[in-house]
Amino acid sequence: MSQPTIESILQEKRLFHPPAEFSQNAHIKSLDEYKQLYEKAQADPEGFWAELAEKELHWFEKWHQVLDWQPPFAKWFVGGKINISYNCLDRHLTTWRRNKAALIWEGEPGDSRTLTYAELHREVCQMANVIKQLGVQKGDRVGIYMPMIPEAAIAMLACARIGAPHTVVFGGFSAEALKDRLEDAEAKLVITADGGWRKDAIVPLKEQVDKALQAGASSVDNVLVVKRTAQDIHMEPGRDHWWHDLQQGASGKCPAEPMDSEDMLFILYTSGTTGKPKGVVHTTGGYNLYSHITLKWAFDLQETDVYWCTADVGWITGHSYIVYGPLSNGATTLMYEGVPRPSNPGCLWDVVEKYGVNIFYTAPTAIRALMKMGEHHPNARDLSSLRLLGTVGEPINPEAWIWYHRVIGGNRCPIVDTWWQTETGGFMITPLPGATPTKPGSATLPFPGIIADVVDADGEPVTNQSGGYLVVKHPWPGMMRTVYKDPDRFRRTYWEHLRPANGEYIYFAGDGAHQDEDGYFWVMGRVDDVINVSGHRLGTMEIESALVSHPMVAEAAVVGKPDEVKGEEIVAFVTLEGENQPTEALEKELKQHVVNEIGAIARPGEIRFTDDLPKTRSGKIMRRLLRNLAAGQEISGDTSTLQDRSVLEKLRGGA
Ligand code: WTA
Repeated sequence: MSQPTIESILQEKRLFHPPAEFSQNAHIKSLDEYKQLYEKAQADPEGFWAELAEKELHWFEKWHQVLDWQPPFAKWFVGGKINISYNCLDRHLTTWRRNKAALIWEGEPGDSRTLTYAELHREVCQMANVIKQLGVQKGDRVGIYMPMIPEAAIAMLACARIGAPHTVVFGGFSAEALKDRLEDAEAKLVITADGGWRKDAIVPLKEQVDKALQAGASSVDNVLVVKRTAQDIHMEPGRDHWWHDLQQGASGKCPAEPMDSEDMLFILYTSGTTGKPKGVVHTTGGYNLYSHITLKWAFDLQETDVYWCTADVGWITGHSYIVYGPLSNGATTLMYEGVPRPSNPGCLWDVVEKYGVNIFYTAPTAIRALMKMGEHHPNARDLSSLRLLGTVGEPINPEAWIWYHRVIGGNRCPIVDTWWQTETGGFMITPLPGATPTKPGSATLPFPGIIADVVDADGEPVTNQSGGYLVVKHPWPGMMRTVYKDPDRFRRTYWEHLRPANGEYIYFAGDGAHQDEDGYFWVMGRVDDVINVSGHRLGTMEIESALVSHPMVAEAAVVGKPDEVKGEEIVAFVTLEGENQPTEALEKELKQHVVNEIGAIARPGEIRFTDDLPKTRSGKIMRRLLRNLAAGQEISGDTSTLQDRSVLEKLRGGA
């Protein structure tokens, strides 16, 4: 059950055709129809996207230019005026959808709530008014640090409504990580909750916010607190306000601000190859269209579907495919606070059964964990409502794919393996379930309008199947616009690694991939210093800086090691300052230190103490060798640049 290797997936030849019945009723009904759309978009990308933008979205004012492309900076629907909160709410209120369930929410302890479009609209307006009352104006940034409760979505939509870009920070990040993000975004307000439920315990979110604000983030004037877990918390007079108090007097009317298509909608921080997380910037019009249409076509969203994505709103998947994409389509989106836990390992299937979920979207790491728990959990529930299954976050190994298809999908649900990134805003390579025959382990073909390719280190197309770097060759509406406050980093990170001879700007995704004889893409995983633990992106540098900030650590090098369930596991090689000696207690302390600095998702699985790290003569740590060592493999490749060969011997024998 390990990560696929080129060898293992090249042998994967099974082909699954869309069930005829599914295709008949689908938005896109055949491979021919997909090909026509793809070719149409390729021939005239601007015309293709403009037609969809006109048809699928509400605009206060139409754009005067579809695309302004000054590589690598793109502007879409230039001059257009739009509000994504309007598209997600107001426009549905004049139709029968007014009383349709917009958001179904299930809390971990079993409490639940359903909000119709009219109700959601009202609460969003109330929160928008409260936010304004707290001094937030159009253009001001708002931090959102929330559990998976309806108010998380309400907060995002409220910010979007008044034109205040949000930055959602995953509730599992530590106070330190929260502080860094609030500081970089210069947030004026933080919206949080007293706590959230996770595995039958309270995650003390407000306490983390207090710590973050004590340590810095001085731009924050106010904190809006939703009551969820109801334990005693500190409320700083003048700074902290209960949502339920302010909601009382707040009007349920708040017109959506007409935003410029290119106004910033949100910043979402993501790990890269240097220590500091990058603030990925998405803007309004293009992102609205892209998250909307990708969900509609790739998940074949239908009017009566109950759609459930298990991600957290703190990640891009939650932004695009729990909140904005589904609501813009007028769909019913389900939000669940819980995760499989010892007290209820089958909780996901309870939720599917209770609400008759039709479309279910999760990550390979979750599928592998569920496989381990055993088939008896899903088998004991009625999962017959399911008609489509999605996956995202990392390459899915064929075994997990087949299990998902058979045990959860009853051999009848198409599996939609979606390759995309925080940076891309929405699905890039994905089957269209009524059209695309699927192959376990492949994300299949690019979405219409997306020109993807695999290139070599010179940026030239790889013609054989040996693989190379995954790139995108034409701008698309959902693409990130820049790194917040750092356009140079945007250019360097994504556009300057690979420059083909013709001088074209191509988008470098940071993933390795190859294409098979049918043009199907097989994504192999990151080719940079990013590791993917349970579908979460973590930069090795980030974890290394966390480790060396501990007073006893001299140097640290972090690598990923294959893990059956998580995909990858973090292994840290650490050298100690002076006379400090490695002990079990210190190992524990260092792991906890990383948790405090970043969050539990970054906890190293293993710490290996060593006297020295393998370096090149120019002093660069040779992570490739450490990866081999961590995985218990023979050292492969060239070691001639190694400065001191005895280091390897010691690491092999000692650690
Ligand atoms: C990986 C999550 C293979 C990939 C939406 C990418 C995948 C990174 C897939 C982005 C997939 C995501 N197959 N790999 N279907 N989906 N990845 O920004 O390495 O959290 O670059 O966005 O996840 O992670 P991010």
